Amino acid sequence: MDSAICGSPHNDVRFMVAPMMDWTDRHCRYFHRQLSRRARLYTEMVTSAAIAHGDRQRLLGFDPAEHRIALQLGGSDPDELARAAEAGAGFGYDEINLNCGCPSDRVQSGRFGACLMAEPRLVGQCVSAMQSAVGAALPVTVKCRIGIDDQDSEADLSRFVETVAGAGCRIFIVHARKAWLQGLSPKENRDVPPLDYERVYRLKAAFPELTIAINGGIATLEEALVHLEAVDGVMLGRAAYKSPAILADVDRALFGEETPPLDACAVLERMLAYATRELEQGTKLSCITRHMTGLINGKPGARAFRRLLTEESVKPGAGLEVLEAAIAAAREAAARRAQRDAAAQDRPESASAAP
Ligand SMILES: Cc1cc2nc3c(=O)[nH]c(=O)nc-3n(C[C@H](O)[C@H](O)[C@H](O)COP(=O)(O)O)c2cc1C
Repeated sequence: MDSAICGSPHNDVRFMVAPMMDWTDRHCRYFHRQLSRRARLYTEMVTSAAIAHGDRQRLLGFDPAEHRIALQLGGSDPDELARAAEAGAGFGYDEINLNCGCPSDRVQSGRFGACLMAEPRLVGQCVSAMQSAVGAALPVTVKCRIGIDDQDSEADLSRFVETVAGAGCRIFIVHARKAWLQGLSPKENRDVPPLDYERVYRLKAAFPELTIAINGGIATLEEALVHLEAVDGVMLGRAAYKSPAILADVDRALFGEETPPLDACAVLERMLAYATRELEQGTKLSCITRHMTGLINGKPGARAFRRLLTEESVKPGAGLEVLEAAIAAAREAAARRAQRDAAAQDRPESASAAP
């Protein structure tokens, strides 16, 4: 599928890191950006009510390095969402996304998130108000499920997408499983209802003029490439967060750029510079390092690295020395590994041959 739809970089949704509450905060996104230049990053969901009444700099502020970045909004009041979207545009976001996929009770009581899939006309009104508020150059997009409760037929999904597209939305990110609004926790709703990728592929085939991206259970870039044969974009959540090294291959594997393999120590050095600035502003070290613990998973020294970042970072007064020690541990492990590899190459074949 052509990723550069309409030639606009705003529409480049070939690879995205999912919005995740409590996870994809600005420190996490800054870290992810050190790994991929091309991945589109999403904020955690921010409600339009919070933006109306809260501290906008705290809720919406981000580092310019995070571009391209989408603001995900939660809400169902078209005027309030329009004002929130306008505020997001003012902060310089590259996309405004409306959450129609989150099933938590807290969200349902506010009549937004996944329960909005039962109200396509209202979603259309929200999208239209948001789009008018931000102007045509900034895409307003929707993240939804393939269905909710007993409204989960292919026709229900088509009706939802057709109605919302009719109100001006051109980009849909579809989590390929339905949500049960009663009886399942948000966590269970991310695992229990079965994935149905084919449903999303058929949605793209039925609406070829729309940009359709797929989400849910995608664990590797190999899998992502298979999906990209049928849809325009892929969004990874948990896999990207837990194994961030995946992101270091995105620009090469999905965008054809010539990028070197991951140099974890170089990434960590850049994070050290970032942490130095942030600690001066009063940020706690663990707020930054908690997102980085999986960086060298599967590599030598991973356990010591994780332990330093999880246990030492949270100690009162923890400072840059913890991150410096983690970098030293990662560097030492990499050097030991390189030495071992070199020694294995130098060994005469007869010595390494099994008897
Ligand atoms: C901790 C956590 C928080 C999440 N918060 C949000 C959120 O704020 N907004 C949203 O649309 N989805 C949220 N999700 C759902 C993800 O965006 C994604 O749709 C889901 O995890 C499935 O993708 P995955 O299998 O690649 O993780 C969250 C998921 C997790 C694990």
